[in-house]
Amino acid sequence: MVAVGLALSAAAFAVAFFVPWLPENASKERDGIDFLFWFTTIICIGIFALVTAVILYSVVKFRARPDDDSDGPPIHGNTKLEIIWTAVPAVLVIAISIVSGVVLARNDRIPSDALRVEVTGEQFAWSFKYPDAKNLASGGVLRLPRGRPVRLLISAKDVIHSFWVPEFGQKLDALPGSVNQLKITPTKLGTYSVICTELCGVGHALMRSEAIVMPPAKFDAWLRKQRTDMGQGGETAGKAVYANNGCGACHTFRPAGSKAGVGPDLDKLPAQASRAGEPLEEFVRESIVRPNAYVEPGFASGLMPQNYGEQLEGDQLDSLVRFLSEGAK
Ligand code: CUA
Repeated sequence: MVAVGLALSAAAFAVAFFVPWLPENASKERDGIDFLFWFTTIICIGIFALVTAVILYSVVKFRARPDDDSDGPPIHGNTKLEIIWTAVPAVLVIAISIVSGVVLARNDRIPSDALRVEVTGEQFAWSFKYPDAKNLASGGVLRLPRGRPVRLLISAKDVIHSFWVPEFGQKLDALPGSVNQLKITPTKLGTYSVICTELCGVGHALMRSEAIVMPPAKFDAWLRKQRTDMGQGGETAGKAVYANNGCGACHTFRPAGSKAGVGPDLDKLPAQASRAGEPLEEFVRESIVRPNAYVEPGFASGLMPQNYGEQLEGDQLDSLVRFLSEGAK
């Protein structure tokens, strides 16, 4: 009996501690969150094991024998036991709340020199802007330098979304009309998923993007390059607008090197324009500004964000239209 119990406990511990339940840890803030997770889980495992052991013991030890028809002994209350089973959970719950409070307070303390990034959710895409770098928009991809605290200013344009990168640990709602702040200090280079975790409409499951953690020097070089690209005209500018607005997250377009199948293949724009019965360049412009005017068969209407018309400055829209029309010919 004891041997079986020990074997079961060993198996339970192996499942609890040797299976990698949590995503990779890629931020400083995750340390506290992981600690809190295991602190709570170990308490739960202990209580579960104790309760199960008492139940199993009682079932075996006090089971009714075939020849025993008598009632059990009359028992009424046990003050000592009741004090113990009230006091112990109270202490545990207080301990959990203190540890949670400490972890959250620490993770919420944002240093004033943190890199600011504006994160905006809309149906159904994320966009990112760098107010410290002349409001540069990195569009659909969140790029962060390793080792530097980042202040994410999270909001939404239409409905409630929720920003989450599992490897960074915390998630936070993106609300229209207000800005929520989240601190992240990336510790590991890599590419992680940005996920929307608030049911926000038909495209909710597709509302994913990437967070790329780069070495600080590379990040600075990237910022500099984006700024020069935006300043130039021609194909470079169009390509930069395409990349910065996350077009590549949904579309395939060879000149931009993007391969995604959420939206129509932009290498086939001329064929789509003739189906819509419009000249190519006009068709491209309309599809960006009013994406529901013509919807390619096989794709859902309403998936493409409807506000690129307001979001893109006039010359950005022009260079994007030129880039797409010329690249697809
Ligand atoms: Cu945005 Cu779900």
